[in-house]
Amino acid sequence: MKVTIIGAGNVGASTCFLLASKNICSEIVLIDIVEDMAIGKAIDISQSCSAFGVDTLVYAQNEYSKISNSDIVVITAGVPRKPGMSREDLLQTNAKIISSVTDEIKKYAPNSIIIVVSNPLDVLTYVTLKLSGFEKSRVIGMGGMLDSARMTQAIFDELGYPSSKINSLVIGTHGEEMLPLARFTFVDGKNLEEITDKASLEKIIQKTKSGGAEIVKRLGTSAYYAPAASVCILIDAIIKDKKTIHPCSTLLQGEYGSNDVCIGVPVVIGKNGIEKIEELSLNDKESQEFIDSVNAIKKMINILKI
Ligand code: LAC
Repeated sequence: MKVTIIGAGNVGASTCFLLASKNICSEIVLIDIVEDMAIGKAIDISQSCSAFGVDTLVYAQNEYSKISNSDIVVITAGVPRKPGMSREDLLQTNAKIISSVTDEIKKYAPNSIIIVVSNPLDVLTYVTLKLSGFEKSRVIGMGGMLDSARMTQAIFDELGYPSSKINSLVIGTHGEEMLPLARFTFVDGKNLEEITDKASLEKIIQKTKSGGAEIVKRLGTSAYYAPAASVCILIDAIIKDKKTIHPCSTLLQGEYGSNDVCIGVPVVIGKNGIEKIEELSLNDKESQEFIDSVNAIKKMINILKI
């Protein structure tokens, strides 16, 4: 299995390091326009493979021809958020970058599965899908998994349950209008709504939504360890054909009453990428919030005139 990671910044390099340490692919290529930085990180990660006794070949390149035969391509290229910026503020800049990256993937790795990580996530997943012409199963947006991990952390902070006993679910956009779903979140086998009062639940939801922004505020740039961990879980599920369910951004064609939009919903991940969309039966309040989420994404798609 060959994995290409486009963008050797914080998210790309952390993904590369974590993936290499898992020993689940034979080759990882880091692509970046800043070649020396990417080569330096690839050498460092290769040396970590030697320390771990892992045989994964890790190298860096600025030539897209080197991505040929990739089974999976992860797009992390683009600018990250700075304090005070929303993910949406990155729209125009990152859409341009992702468009040119997609052209190269189409040319050199036409059979790959693409995982989009750059922001604004859902819009860029849509851009990648449209410009690549790939089947929808082969373009996956990684957002809801990260938000669900943040919800799990917020539940631990608020209620003290260990993360191993928490199964969180966040759907909708990877942005302000995301939907942390208490009704579909389970803690030690019980529904989250059953074991929390309103005030704690509200805190958990707010903390989940602002989990990324707090990091940007304190760190001066956006998160990378938890995004990298989420991408690795996704790659592991594809390589091992796990058929596990994760919330990912995918094209809706009538599911959840929506059309022609990429948004986070639970999907089955296996060797073909997104193998199935799971349809939850949302109540009226959740359905309305989901529509708000769809509209927030569509507004940005319309700005780009894709
Ligand atoms: C975040 C960015 C990576 O949520 O989307 O931290």
